[in-house]
Amino acid sequence: MSQDTIESILQEKRLFQPPAEFSQKAHIKSLEEYQALYDKAKADPEAFWAKLADRELDWFQKWDTVLDWQPPFAKWFVNGKINISYNCLDRHLTTWRKNKAALIWEGEPGDSRTLTYAQLHREVCQMANVIKQLGVQKGDRVGIYMPMIPEAAIAMLACARIGAVHSVVFGGFSAEALHDRLNDGKAKLLITADGGFRKDTAVGLKTQVDKALANNAVPTVANVLVVERTKQKIHMEPGRDHWWHDLQKGVSANCPAEPMDSEDMLFILYTSGSTGKPKGVVHTTGGYNLYTHMTTKWIFDLQDTDVYWCTADVGWITGHSYIVYGPLSNGATTLMYEGAPRNSNPGCFWDVIEKYGVTVFYTAPTAIRTFMKMGEHFPKARDLSSLRLLGTVGEPINPEAWMWYYRIIGNSNCPIVDTWWQTETGGIMITALPGAIPTKPGSATLPFPGIVVDVVDQDGEPVTNESGGYLVVKHPWPGMMRTLYNDPERFRRTYWEYLRPKNGEFVYFAGDGAHKDKDGYFWVMGRVDDVINVAGHRLGTMEVESALVSHPAVAEAAVVGKPDEIKGEEIVAFVTLENTQQPSDELAKELKQHVVKEIGAIARPGEIRFTEALPKTRSGKIMRRLLRSLAAGQEVTGDTSTLEDRAVLDKLRGGA
Ligand code: WTA
Repeated sequence: MSQDTIESILQEKRLFQPPAEFSQKAHIKSLEEYQALYDKAKADPEAFWAKLADRELDWFQKWDTVLDWQPPFAKWFVNGKINISYNCLDRHLTTWRKNKAALIWEGEPGDSRTLTYAQLHREVCQMANVIKQLGVQKGDRVGIYMPMIPEAAIAMLACARIGAVHSVVFGGFSAEALHDRLNDGKAKLLITADGGFRKDTAVGLKTQVDKALANNAVPTVANVLVVERTKQKIHMEPGRDHWWHDLQKGVSANCPAEPMDSEDMLFILYTSGSTGKPKGVVHTTGGYNLYTHMTTKWIFDLQDTDVYWCTADVGWITGHSYIVYGPLSNGATTLMYEGAPRNSNPGCFWDVIEKYGVTVFYTAPTAIRTFMKMGEHFPKARDLSSLRLLGTVGEPINPEAWMWYYRIIGNSNCPIVDTWWQTETGGIMITALPGAIPTKPGSATLPFPGIVVDVVDQDGEPVTNESGGYLVVKHPWPGMMRTLYNDPERFRRTYWEYLRPKNGEFVYFAGDGAHKDKDGYFWVMGRVDDVINVAGHRLGTMEVESALVSHPAVAEAAVVGKPDEIKGEEIVAFVTLENTQQPSDELAKELKQHVVKEIGAIARPGEIRFTEALPKTRSGKIMRRLLRSLAAGQEVTGDTSTLEDRAVLDKLRGGA
């Protein structure tokens, strides 16, 4: 982003106050109340979290120490015993919520299902018993590779119930990506479906599973549990593959929740970094339960009558924290939708809102921009008057999209919470509290109570107000990742030793650039590392490059992000070919398809640019900054003196 635009953004004059009638009924009712809560939490974070843990969650046994902080390793609620599936289900069954809708599901072809808390509990217990029968024990890892159907949430809760660690792999990932993740976690069981519906067509999941597991390529996976969704013809491997509906028959719906230690692993979720393979982010039980519970309650201001809808996929952290665990822990009604915005059904989101009377709606800027482009007559043709609160997540939202969301979807009377967070943070970190904090279009506003964030320079020292820098978190928080699976050193290096202030404190480096304006509002600008954000999906440039060079025609590849009107960023790959190869449109197509096969459709490069050589420094580092400018069609500015061979740049400019 150019300096001009940053300055104009920081000059933003528009300030939207929470509507008075919203604030009156909200959990946090005013800026003063937020400020008091924030100050109290900052003064004594442990007392703050302990009080909430005690008030909001059910424990089998109380903890004896709130926080054990051996930087960068944290333990929260030490020796406490808890089960998140119990907090999401059982405790609601003794209240009026027993027959309240827990999960409303809308399928892409228009089928639907509603599960009350009692019904969801029943299904979760049954799946938990089936998983046990298949030999899974406490601490074992279970892969979940599912479409957006209730069984995806049921599988997660069933694992949590018996203390198995789930590792959800987004259903859009390829067989290769699934294979790598299952092997890294040494999963014992995989829960999947025959297929799922994606944009009008049935896509196979089980076929990908068969490829991932072929020739015993994941030796630890002994069983595969298959949910029937699309009724596609699939292969069932005798002895390994089992239909869920067969095993569910006659299995007991009684399965007591296993008392878990607060710090027992709840799940692993893989996410992209700037180097190497995707990282297995580890979240544990007690702290994550509390953090997702509190953030959901206060940020989405959940009341008993709300119908809450988060449009993410359960394969991402947003789905984990804000479709499944946070809302259910609060006893809310959470909606799950299998479909996605597409040209053939441009009103699909608005139909769902109208059909179910959705009150709180949480989506991504890329979806908002897609709808903006389709035109406002689609939402205007639906009754969206049930909405009272809107949220966004996944990437910075441009003020224009924010205003459209506010006016067209929110009818200018719904607060917008722009929520900044990451897979690693477990829950939302910077956001407005909708009844309390006035919003500015494009700013995530202020930190959640208990969270201390700042913008620092390369030495880890705070920057003066309004100049940009790196976004950091300064104190441990209950929802924070505990480590990287099997790689504590990489965890330490990547997140906690990247920036070290002079006072020796440990600060968490998020990988994002940010500004803080004169009101203390945060403006998150995007990644400062080699991570690209395509339509809200995080991809490492290295991952895509490795996929490209695994093709026999490719000698070298460098991948950068290019600004895209809808997706935020699009992947541009600069590729040099082996001597025997000639550039062609066919080859470009083939390479794009190759990346899809290696990673999944979300990583498909928008553009492949063949080149004779890549611009490198004398020490052989690819100069991505130059490539980014070239990809964006901008003049290459700044220092190019370290470039080894200037002719390479001239050729690239010439479109070679
Ligand atoms: C980006 C998704 C600006 C950011 C929850 C972060 C955002 C990455 C916002 C994490 C936001 C997420 N404003 N940027 N409101 N929310 N991001 O792990 O770059 O898939 O580091 O978690 O998304 O992506 P992840």
